[in-house]
Amino acid sequence: MLREKYLIYLSLSAAFILLIVGLACDSLTVEKYHAHGLVATSSPIATAVGLEVLKDGGNAFDASVAIGFALAVCYPRAGNVGGGGFALFYSAETGEVSALDFRETAPAKADREMYLDKNGGVVPNASLIGAKAAGVPGTVAGLHEISKRYGSLEWYTLLEPAIKLADTGFIVSDCMEQTLARLSDKLSVFPETRAVFVRNGTTPRSGERFIQKELAATLERIAMDSTDGFYTSETADLIVGCMEKNSGLISHDDLSGYRVKWRRPIHFTFDSLDVYSMPPPSSGGVILGQILKLIEPYDFYKYSPDSPDYIHLFAEVCRLAYADRAVHLGDPDFAQNPLNELLDSAYLDSRRQVINLEAAGNSREIGSGLPEQTEESESTTHFVVADEAGNIVSLSYTINDDYGSKLVVDGAGFLLNNEMDDFAVKPGVPNLYGLVGGKANEIAPAKRMLSSMSPTIVMKKGRPVLALGSAGGSKIITTVAEAIISLARFDLSLKKAIEHPRFHHQWLPDTLYLERGGFDINIMQDLISKGHIVKERDRYSDLNALRIDDNSLMTGASDSRRCGKADGY
Ligand code: DON
Repeated sequence: MLREKYLIYLSLSAAFILLIVGLACDSLTVEKYHAHGLVATSSPIATAVGLEVLKDGGNAFDASVAIGFALAVCYPRAGNVGGGGFALFYSAETGEVSALDFRETAPAKADREMYLDKNGGVVPNASLIGAKAAGVPGTVAGLHEISKRYGSLEWYTLLEPAIKLADTGFIVSDCMEQTLARLSDKLSVFPETRAVFVRNGTTPRSGERFIQKELAATLERIAMDSTDGFYTSETADLIVGCMEKNSGLISHDDLSGYRVKWRRPIHFTFDSLDVYSMPPPSSGGVILGQILKLIEPYDFYKYSPDSPDYIHLFAEVCRLAYADRAVHLGDPDFAQNPLNELLDSAYLDSRRQVINLEAAGNSREIGSGLPEQTEESESTTHFVVADEAGNIVSLSYTINDDYGSKLVVDGAGFLLNNEMDDFAVKPGVPNLYGLVGGKANEIAPAKRMLSSMSPTIVMKKGRPVLALGSAGGSKIITTVAEAIISLARFDLSLKKAIEHPRFHHQWLPDTLYLERGGFDINIMQDLISKGHIVKERDRYSDLNALRIDDNSLMTGASDSRRCGKADGY
């Protein structure tokens, strides 16, 4: 009897210990490895679409096109056909990294003063809400170019999952319910937007099936006629009709004349890594390069990812880099971008002299170090895909603000971007993200507005090891920089590097932003005592990434700040 009791006691104790170990393991960041393919996006539905394409024999490029269209349906806050973006590719066949620009362009009728009143003041919200805020969309041309250049599956096949999701609907998640409910008022302003997102007076609820018939028809036209299904014919008529009704500027000629551009990626080294990122018209690559190169010589032995001394150094480096962003960068087809000068080691050495390791600098005094040669919300998304052959896509696209211009094209079922706000609508006047700009980024017909999107691929000894990028407006670049530093210098796991609380400085406003709840009072007080104006920001950015280890196994991570998913097989 005693022996039986003892055995029961032993097995209960063992079960209890196993339960505790199990729970503990679950709460640790256990990384799953995959040999055949990996996808990380901001939507579990889009991640499943991408994996399905890979399993059906498509390559990473095919999967990225299918994901791009699927996100336009099931992640409408940022996924789009009415916006634009950038992508970096690693081709296993050539061993090269290439960069595609499918950024929106200003309509031909746009001009430098289009958002100013007769006294030269900025008309509130003119570059943010409605048809006049929209640039000519580039997404459909961009996704088509990816398929044409690198894809292996039929174009139509790549749109089928998105068409089905729009036509028969998908189940609204808690996350989608929350973002839609938060913006319900803004989405109710235009009747055509209300008809999609605020049907019967309420935004869609979690668990409901959300059907978008008009979007399905638009996608069907794109599937049948490729870019013509968007840039000419019925969809184009609907876009131009929407412009005429809502005083917008985009014409048939703007649409049919839209072209993607292949660009040479920004390349620089950081420690033993070769980093490739997006060149202008994104500021992402060059500013990321400045941040990492400026910080590279510092000895990190006394730093941890949370130490005020490290956060201070990071902020000082960003102050310098973002000062250059404001002055020198714009669409390279219109403005001289001194990329070599901005990344020149003698120039960066001289800039580094300004940094005081004990005290915050003063942004008004600092300015750019080169003579002048002449952003946040939630509506960007980044995803990464890798296939068994070793191909990689790192793609960011956006409609700028949450749900873009808040205007749905009547009859076509998709939201238009409000990317025009990324231009400097007036020199020195901050945009949605508090970014200021000058001549290099002033509005001109057919010009591309300066971006912060930073799709990035990192190589080591000639082999890709990391692909990443983020949403977050002006905070995209610091988000990507912090993740690379956390991996390279603090040896954090991919998931921990992404989850680590974020900090951000962008020269102006002269403020050090700390992610709310991420830093204790001692850290904040230390930073304040160094002279920083510290402000807490709610959880921000949304980073998706994948890492490839020496044994070619892949692991992915999706930011818990939104509701994405990384998965593989
Ligand atoms: O291109 C840019 O830099 C901005 N339009 C990105 C906007 C953004 O990231 C908003 N979402 N988080």
